[in-house]
Amino acid sequence: MVIKMARKRIDASADRCPTGIPGLDDLLDGGFPRGRTILLTGECGTGKTIFGVQFLHNGVVKYNEPGVLLILEQNIQYLKRDMRLFDFDLDELEDSGKLVIIDASLSRFNVSEASPKSSKSFSLTSRDLVGTKEVVDIIIDAAKEIRAERVVIDSLPALDNLVRSKENVRDVILYMNYRLQSKGFTSILVSDILKNREGDVEEYVSDGVIRLNYITSGPDTGRNLVIQKMRGTRHSEDIHPITFTEGIGIEVLEVEE
Ligand SMILES: Nc1ncnc2c1ncn2[C@@H]1O[C@H](COP(=O)(O)OP(=O)(O)O)[C@@H](O)[C@H]1O
Ligand SMILES: [Mg+2]
Repeated sequence: MVIKMARKRIDASADRCPTGIPGLDDLLDGGFPRGRTILLTGECGTGKTIFGVQFLHNGVVKYNEPGVLLILEQNIQYLKRDMRLFDFDLDELEDSGKLVIIDASLSRFNVSEASPKSSKSFSLTSRDLVGTKEVVDIIIDAAKEIRAERVVIDSLPALDNLVRSKENVRDVILYMNYRLQSKGFTSILVSDILKNREGDVEEYVSDGVIRLNYITSGPDTGRNLVIQKMRGTRHSEDIHPITFTEGIGIEVLEVEE
């Protein structure tokens, strides 16, 4: 199946927040609905972290929209090194004052001391264990300071290490969605496939779901992206092959017959 969609000039606009990911914004009628929260889901290694970083990188570099990254899963130095392969220089973005990285990965390893940072970025340690409300407050404060428009939380399941409460994933998603949306940020919440854990959690996310897949057999073998849901937007419903290209990041390819 070949999808034909009008090629048009895409700018950051009042109602669209372009991802800048090659091939994707055309499929979303210009980008994510601005001010909404998108759930980015997929199994381990499907490219969720690359996607989230690319969204923030492009925000700063292409659209002059600052961003906040809450990173929970990975060692920040490894992440920065890996992202350099795609020409996403996170140090440079931090130094420019347009990216704040809140490094909460230490909470995972139960480390309570963090080394100071030169930029506005900072760490949350296992001493800072709090509820979801406090985590969102911290994100919103950081975002206000740099006038951020974009927020990425990578990832929700890893919040368990920071949030010591009995809140379930559904309530966390609903609450984050509400708070981030009320502040007008266009946000990506990264998650593993949540099905079979607490039912179909995606259903509770009001705005949008993008799913990344890595399929090893059958007609759709390879890496692909599906826009599962995107409120307020005409969008493609096809399975779109994607590639990870050095110097670019994720590219969404045309669907071929
Ligand atoms: N430089 C690169 N070139 C091509 N593919 C890469 C490169 N670096 C990482 N990848 C691919 O990206 C995958 C990891 O992407 P990542 O965003 O970390 O996944 P997720 O966050 O979904 O676990 C790896 O499994 C690897 O296949
Ligand atoms: Mg990841």
